[in-house]
Amino acid sequence: MALGRAFVLLVCLAALAASADHPTIAIPPGLKLASGKRIWETACAACHGSDGKGTPKALAGFDQPRTFPDFTRCDQTTSELDNDYRAIITNGGPFRGFSQIMPAFRQALTPKQINQLIEYLRGFCDASGWPRGELNLPRALVTEKAFPENETVLTSALNAGGAPGVANDIIEENRFGKHDEIEIDVPVNFIHPEHTWYGGFGDASLGLKHEFFSNSRTGSIFAAQGEIILPTGSTAHGIGSGTPSFATFAAFDQLFPTNTFFQVQAGTQQPFDTSKAPRTFFWYNAVGQELYQSHGLGRMWSPMVEFLADRDFLPGAKMNWDVMPEMQVTVSRRQHIRFDVGVRIPATNTAGRDPQVLFYVLWDWQDGRLTEGW
Ligand code: HEC
Repeated sequence: MALGRAFVLLVCLAALAASADHPTIAIPPGLKLASGKRIWETACAACHGSDGKGTPKALAGFDQPRTFPDFTRCDQTTSELDNDYRAIITNGGPFRGFSQIMPAFRQALTPKQINQLIEYLRGFCDASGWPRGELNLPRALVTEKAFPENETVLTSALNAGGAPGVANDIIEENRFGKHDEIEIDVPVNFIHPEHTWYGGFGDASLGLKHEFFSNSRTGSIFAAQGEIILPTGSTAHGIGSGTPSFATFAAFDQLFPTNTFFQVQAGTQQPFDTSKAPRTFFWYNAVGQELYQSHGLGRMWSPMVEFLADRDFLPGAKMNWDVMPEMQVTVSRRQHIRFDVGVRIPATNTAGRDPQVLFYVLWDWQDGRLTEGW
């Protein structure tokens, strides 16, 4: 074990001496450490503890950052991607906007050893029943995903033709328990019908999502949501329906081993008073690809195309089909702030329906504050 202890000492010295930007551990590779557990004990446990909970402050010799992980907290770790762990272990904390105390192991460990470590860390929560973060696919602009999330999203839709107008939504999604999420959506609209601008709240909604099924091996996840929509918007200005509604949808997402994915969401909105607003049905689809910079460990780009269909339950109503190419990109190093922009192009039934430019800024606040992780 003398070799092991010497390694731990070297790791700690290297961490202390680490340069501000990308600390690396300068240890000749070739330490024959067979299992993930052995590698963990030798290279990681000095700081993270044998049990993965973190070495007590007095022994570790550094101030634990607020985001210091406890690998047995399955509510916090299951949403992290294997790829995030790989990036941090390979390139060190600062590579993903974390503390420089977390060293880079790209010289000390082989990619295979790093994968063994990730598998070992996953062992703490494999049987916990929390859905895995890999199934948390990139959020599309319109199609809602199945994964229960902790995030705040600001979305905007700007009319690219016809009367000027901007429809914004402030969306707050809060996960509770393993499978549930509560969602609040407050629309703030600005319209310009007769040469004067009017701004006001639209119809706010409160939703509850439940994830019924997820399987990280097959890459599938299924959820359903129920929503109450309140008539908070002004009907006089055409940004409110004037009646409460109930809405419900099901969402199924599939991720393939190539990091290609699709998301399907289908549902209906049922107003209490159908003389004020029609019943509608919608069917949304998103197809996309996750692409990573920096040898698969850096910034993620997700080109997507959405195919959006909706129809009023009225005699003679036609199906509206829209196509929307878009691009999502992770803005912060930690990938917890993301931006998506796309153009929604009406494809059928185009009379009176103009193209729109949509974008959002998303903050996955479980991964850090707005000011952290850059
Ligand atoms: C010198 C101490 C030290 C050593 C050695 C060390 N770590 Fe870390 N590690 C940290 C600190 C501190 C953080 C928290 C960084 C932050 O939150 O800003 C961290 C964070 C991490 C994270 C990010 C977790 C998250 O919240 O996303 C992973 C994964 C990780 N370490 C794995 C390892 C592995 C695997 C090893 C061994 C190969 C290792 N660490 C060795 C100090 C260390």
